[in-house]
Amino acid sequence: MTSGDLTRRRFIAAASAGSLAAAASGTIPAYGDVVKKAGQLAILGGDPVRKNKPWPQWPYWDDSMTDTLVKTAKSRIWCRIQSASGTVPTFEKEYARMMGARFCVATGAGTQALHTCVEALGIGPGDEVITSPYTDPGTIQGILSARALPVLADLDVESYQLDPADVEKKITENTRAIMPVHMMGQPCDMDSIMAIAKKHNLRVIEDACQAHLAEHRGRKLGTIGDVGCFSFQSSKTIACGEGGGIIGNDEELMDKCYTVHNHGTSRRGRTEVIGPKYRMNEFEAAVLLGQLPGAIERWRRRNENAAYLTKRLKDIPGLTPQKLYPGTDSGSFYLYTMSYHKEQFDGVSRATFLKALNAEGISLSEYIPQGLHKEPWIDQIVKSKSYQKMYAAERLRQFSEQRACPKCDQVCEEMVMLWASGPLLAPQEEVADIADAIEKVWENRARLKQV
Ligand SMILES: Cc1ncc(COP(=O)(O)O)c(C=O)c1O
Repeated sequence: MTSGDLTRRRFIAAASAGSLAAAASGTIPAYGDVVKKAGQLAILGGDPVRKNKPWPQWPYWDDSMTDTLVKTAKSRIWCRIQSASGTVPTFEKEYARMMGARFCVATGAGTQALHTCVEALGIGPGDEVITSPYTDPGTIQGILSARALPVLADLDVESYQLDPADVEKKITENTRAIMPVHMMGQPCDMDSIMAIAKKHNLRVIEDACQAHLAEHRGRKLGTIGDVGCFSFQSSKTIACGEGGGIIGNDEELMDKCYTVHNHGTSRRGRTEVIGPKYRMNEFEAAVLLGQLPGAIERWRRRNENAAYLTKRLKDIPGLTPQKLYPGTDSGSFYLYTMSYHKEQFDGVSRATFLKALNAEGISLSEYIPQGLHKEPWIDQIVKSKSYQKMYAAERLRQFSEQRACPKCDQVCEEMVMLWASGPLLAPQEEVADIADAIEKVWENRARLKQV
């Protein structure tokens, strides 16, 4: 028996009890009418599946975070370079340990972490980095800030991740690195990406900004490539408002990351290379340090609830949860995502489906409206004097002409998603509301034609 059956059974039992009482008093219509009213879509005047029940609040906060924040304030060590055992260096040690990496360098944002890695790997003008069009703008800005060229490869429509075959097609003699983006906090096809990198002698910078604690073949994301970058921006599963971090095992490279992020000044106190000032603030580190003890438990709970949702939704033909690659042990479940197939919902548009679900008290939404290949930056850099000096005219022409990513366009059109950081921490009976609401909308899809 599925939990869906259980939910319906619970409802029918409640409705029956109600009808009996009503029949005795002679005040309420027959049982069939009660079922019909409660089963009616909320968007058409029925009762919503979930009413006035907030999800666990996000960003997460607890007393131990207040304690670390107050302790940091009172210590008067407010900047990481004041003490080697201050809050930022302590957080770096703890985060590296939790992620199974030897080193961590904390930064002010995920974008800063990505840019630091690009610089530290010596990638700059004339060089190319292959990445995804379906991501936060911070991914490409990490490359553009080094005046390198972000070359976009298309996606696998089922996983929303970079398609390794298209990555390989986009390699040129100037390609220096691949930046796979673990979208929604799930692993990319890392087996294929690492094989391509090895074959073409490329570096791998993992954009794991959404992928805290997720695992592929027993390794945490961020530790598979040369370096891995994280964001701790408010919505992420480990968050401090704005923040970022780099993890890695190569001591020399991680030392270089430290130097770059510290306005080019090394741990030896010499100003050695070009570098912005991207140091994490001690108060951000305090908020992060205080939440690490429960982070693994919360990640487990999200994974359990996500597996439950996937099981409940697997028989709804018009919705396909994100495809996971072989070797995926777990995700971060920053977002819980699915593709919506309108034709299997009797032609009901995605917008109407989402409206109907929102009326049921379940806020699913679209995600990235269009890929980065459709944003104005490509024309801007192709026309810019600096890029014209750094790249051959023929390369910029090709780059501009070969920007189409039709699979990414399809993903943007089909995506429906839940901001999962908070909701997937709820008890399973509440997560069931999401599946119940989707089932209800699916069962009543024909009625949505009148909306
Ligand atoms: C995949 C991805 N890459 C990069 C970033 C940039 O991180 P930040 O916002 O911390 O700069 C984000 C943030 O949303 C992201 O989701």
